Amino acid sequence: MPDDERTGPAKAGGQASAPFPDGFLWGAATASFQIEGSTAADGRGGSIWDTFCARPGTVANGDTGEPAADHYRLMPADVRLMAELGLRAYRFSVAWPRVRPDGGAVNAAGLDFYDRLLDELLEHGIAPWPTLYHWDLPQALEDRGGWTNRDTAHRFADYVDSVLERLGDRVSNWTTLNEPWCSAFLGYAAGVHAPGRTEPRAAVAAGHHLLLAHGEGLAVIRERAPHAGAGITLNLFPVRAHDPADEADVEAARRVDALQNRFFLDPLLRGSCPRDLLSDLEPFGLGEHVKADDAERIAAPVDLLGVNYYHDHTVTGRSDGRPAAPSPWVGAEHVRFPGRGLPRTGMGWEVVPEGLTELLVGLHREFPATPLYVTENGAAYPDVVTASGVDDPERVAYLESHLSAAHEALRRGVDLRGYFYWSLLDNFEWAEGYAKRFGLVHVDYATQRRTPKASAYRYARVIAENGL
Ligand code: FCB
Repeated sequence: MPDDERTGPAKAGGQASAPFPDGFLWGAATASFQIEGSTAADGRGGSIWDTFCARPGTVANGDTGEPAADHYRLMPADVRLMAELGLRAYRFSVAWPRVRPDGGAVNAAGLDFYDRLLDELLEHGIAPWPTLYHWDLPQALEDRGGWTNRDTAHRFADYVDSVLERLGDRVSNWTTLNEPWCSAFLGYAAGVHAPGRTEPRAAVAAGHHLLLAHGEGLAVIRERAPHAGAGITLNLFPVRAHDPADEADVEAARRVDALQNRFFLDPLLRGSCPRDLLSDLEPFGLGEHVKADDAERIAAPVDLLGVNYYHDHTVTGRSDGRPAAPSPWVGAEHVRFPGRGLPRTGMGWEVVPEGLTELLVGLHREFPATPLYVTENGAAYPDVVTASGVDDPERVAYLESHLSAAHEALRRGVDLRGYFYWSLLDNFEWAEGYAKRFGLVHVDYATQRRTPKASAYRYARVIAENGL
């Protein structure tokens, strides 16, 4: 990328006032359904997101996975762009419905795309950081119960096996799942993500089976690629009571923390489900799904934990009297998240950079042996393209403040090894469709023209200087 007059020439490394450790991994992230498009190419099968998008009223503006950022066809140019930005790593996801279109037989043509992607990345000196599941479950498996069906975890292991067989020689870090909380609780309880079910019991089953799928997939990775690193990415939130003196708020915060964070962290990193959560979810059947050996399988050691951070949760247990809508907070449907008057992103999320420090410091305290990577962090804002490009000062400020927060965590001794901005490109933001833009690079969906935003130039400079 040419030096830009808005940022000045990139300085050589070592001149940053907040330097990051040598070898700190700088990357950007995307996900298959959000950027690829070409949803019917080369034998790809339908996914739960294709089905969900086709249902009226689910996704803003009736948007679908077409055209997305047309990355399936523009991939080589996109990798060049990554290299121009100086990215050292690229986090992407493999689409299960390309690899095993109906959940069964392998489709070699679907793997070809990722094979080419790995080669392009490696030729440009960019480390591939693939995630094996970022929400695009083959619809055929949903037709058999989806994540409520224990067998889906075994089908995941088969799929992982076929991916590793083909790509395992060129990847040094694998991620099993992205944000299983969203798959389970937004997908099966709140119904705002695919498959759009509003059945709390189903969500609890899905959550456990996703953890099991992680364990099964990890076992396959260990077998096929014994020298590669492997982990999982969770969306984690510091949770606080709105009024710490109010018992209802304290209890609401406990429940939200249990459902959001500890449902996943404890089985993965402690080998057991928290007692309070087991009792909260007893009426929803959690215990029924946990079989002998599951705990051991799920807790097999990981080499790292991926942390996605966007904001924190401030919770009240005081209902506002509105009729309860389907909620992801199973057993705690009345909880609310009052605002604190802080600035918000285009998603309506409060900007709380210090929450990232708190989260990382807390995780390191609880799980000191597990290296951490921020695998997503970023912001949507309503960007405007002008003749001189895309000036996005709010995103630049978001990036800088969160990198400062990560730097502070490092200063406090956290074993943080990398940071991936979400997202490289503007893309299909799930239920929000194309209306919300998270990219460092603007995408004009009509022409597929890419325009790096000022934030892209800023991030390029951070990478070049290895710090802020
Ligand atoms: C995360 C998702 C990612 C993206 C960001 C904004 O929850 O993992 O796909 O949509 O939010």
